[in-house]
Amino acid sequence: PTITYHQPSGAARTLTVEEGTSVMRAAVVAGVPGIVGECGGQAMCATCHVYVRPGAEELPPIGEDEDEMLDCTVAERTDRSRLGCQVSAGGRLQDLEVDVPAEQV
Ligand code: FES
Repeated sequence: PTITYHQPSGAARTLTVEEGTSVMRAAVVAGVPGIVGECGGQAMCATCHVYVRPGAEELPPIGEDEDEMLDCTVAERTDRSRLGCQVSAGGRLQDLEVDVPAEQV
């Protein structure tokens, strides 16, 4: 699977990841700007907030903790908002594309 990160500047970076690697983890390991992952993936910090591009319907539904944290993001919550630590590429969604919110960069 791959995850592509689109920056507010228009720059994009595609990472090839292991099946099930979260958007947050892959970004932190590769040093993708704007995704900090402060809480280590516990759905408790919202520093991994991203906007998922079309295909989001293939992702697992938003969990209760995630839903609460998505109300605390720096950037505005939209219907494309997810926590990067709660979503990963793989399964039926092999090529995940996300936008990094400008407020986080
Ligand atoms: Fe903290 Fe995702 S890494 S909420």
